[in-house]
Amino acid sequence: MQTTISTILKRKKHGQKITMLTAYDYPTAKLADAAGVDIILVGDSLANVVLGLESTRDVGMDEMLHHAKAVRRAVKKALLVGDMPYSSYQKRPVAAARNAKRFAQAAGCGAVKLEWFPRCLEVVRQIRKAGIPVMGHVGLTPQTADKLGGFKVQGRDAESAAAIIRNAAALQEAGCFSIVLECIPDAIARLITQRLKIPTIGIGAGRSCDGQVLVLYDLLGLSDRFHPKFVKAYAHLGPLILRAIARYRADVTAGRFPSRKYSYSMRREEWERLRKILL
Ligand code: KIV
Repeated sequence: MQTTISTILKRKKHGQKITMLTAYDYPTAKLADAAGVDIILVGDSLANVVLGLESTRDVGMDEMLHHAKAVRRAVKKALLVGDMPYSSYQKRPVAAARNAKRFAQAAGCGAVKLEWFPRCLEVVRQIRKAGIPVMGHVGLTPQTADKLGGFKVQGRDAESAAAIIRNAAALQEAGCFSIVLECIPDAIARLITQRLKIPTIGIGAGRSCDGQVLVLYDLLGLSDRFHPKFVKAYAHLGPLILRAIARYRADVTAGRFPSRKYSYSMRREEWERLRKILL
């Protein structure tokens, strides 16, 4: 059965945890969906994780849609969420609803996600007016990390914690169906989760959140970027892939690959006929 916004809201009501993962391509999205993950986010972490860019601010709508379409082809059950890149709503808030519609119409996303910024409430309302569900994102917001003192835990002092709590409540009020809480103390995430009717999805926000999200390539041990404390690698595919490629290279170099097993043959009489044609 297809996971919908209502499925996600019911999870909180029934105290059932929500699982969310990023995916950027067809094969990994297919695996995440088959494993029963509830929400698949085509995250703008695409920028760092897949495209080798410095900042998530460097990825644009066209690249996001290109990957979202590939993920859409793979996902049969999970709720698909498109992550709004910085330029699609923060740089030009007037373009936000139009860009959200592109995620829905061109890539079949069931919702979009956007990060907190001063005008985000008006942007959420515009996108909701266009009929598209919105997931909020507070705490450490990577697109504007420079304004937050870098990639650091947020809300460690009373004032900044109060601001995050207020922002989360305001996003619920503006119509978000859920909120990502990134890199904040456990106690603050617990308070927000208790206060809000909509589900909270944590990343570096402790175990009290209604759900959890991780970047898939971090979980798989496939990314060489800096790993914050909250990342748990459930596999170490990087060294495994490196070994496989090195063996392939060694086999080709030594003439062991492709062996007969990996080659096509031709019937003898056809070979003889060919020789006559060529003579
Ligand atoms: O882009 C991303 O990966 C995110 C995280 C919250 C997982 O936004």
